[in-house]
Amino acid sequence: MTSHEPLPIREVDHLEFYVGNARQASYYYRLVFGFDQVGYRGPETGVRDRASYLMQQGNIRFVLTTPLEAEGPLTAHLARHGDGVRDVALQVDDAIAVWETAVKRGARPIHDPIREVHGDGGVTRAAVATYGDTIHTFIQRDGVEPPMLPGFRAEHKPGGGAGLVAVDHLVGNVEDEKMEDWVEYYLNVFGFTRFMTFDDSDISTEFTALRSTVVSSPNGRVKFPINEPAPGRRRSQIQEYIDFYHGPGVQHIALQTGDIIASIAELRRRGVEFLQVPSSYYDSLAERVGPLKEDIDRLREFGILVDRDDQGYLLQLFTRPVEDRPTLFYEIIQRRGALGFGKGNFKALFEAIEREQALRGNL
Ligand code: FE2
Repeated sequence: MTSHEPLPIREVDHLEFYVGNARQASYYYRLVFGFDQVGYRGPETGVRDRASYLMQQGNIRFVLTTPLEAEGPLTAHLARHGDGVRDVALQVDDAIAVWETAVKRGARPIHDPIREVHGDGGVTRAAVATYGDTIHTFIQRDGVEPPMLPGFRAEHKPGGGAGLVAVDHLVGNVEDEKMEDWVEYYLNVFGFTRFMTFDDSDISTEFTALRSTVVSSPNGRVKFPINEPAPGRRRSQIQEYIDFYHGPGVQHIALQTGDIIASIAELRRRGVEFLQVPSSYYDSLAERVGPLKEDIDRLREFGILVDRDDQGYLLQLFTRPVEDRPTLFYEIIQRRGALGFGKGNFKALFEAIEREQALRGNL
């Protein structure tokens, strides 16, 4: 790979979370979000220091890992950050070449390449650091089809599904004045492109503000918005995240559905808690976004938000944080042509977040 050639990344392979109790988290993602449990590793499979559950829905794969030891990097990570995303693993054809190029271009190495055998095939992986204690593992699969990973035994505990099909984008929160450094990292090391930028005038309410830049892989399949807090009259939600996660990290994961009304109906039925916007949001919706295929009464019933750009429109909704700390949350998104991120909804959403920040005493 020459100096500015993009790293040949296919897509997000999986996300690994460090959690306090992976067994219970696996029930949450299965019974509430509808993921199938498709693999397990732990003492029963010869792994002594951790237990992990492999979850899948559509092309979305999560690994939920908990430490079994009193000390060590995994335990320290969990104590500092609470439950959260440790690894945004990226699928590549040649993990060693991609890792070597990334390191040569300035990425901080985390794991040297290792190859693990699985059945008749194997997986080669190597990792580099990104913001905070978050890492990217490059995963090369040779005859080991997703979702399977070495060290796991196959399981089949169905979750029923909620129509979620893929990771649409994954957002990182970084410290004030650090966004541009991390954008440069993805441009210079990964060869990503600058896809979109939002400044304080796009993303501010009466009280708080943030700035965001979206970087994208050239094939458009990996999109990472990077947020930083911006000065406002009160504490930005990005600063609240950083204060409780004790550093930068993954703020939200947007999951795509092909039918958002059906997905949200199912997720609500199963107990997912979503942010609430005032019902006045829907009064002017038709004028603001024009004709929609969906029935506005149903969008109002389920609290689904809509935004239009010059390519089409999108429908989206955000969960409340899924931990006690106000850190990671999910977005459910359906795209009908639009390539954006719901700029027209930012204000209503951030006001909804501020109401929750205020209840936590953090605004
Ligand atoms: Fe998003």
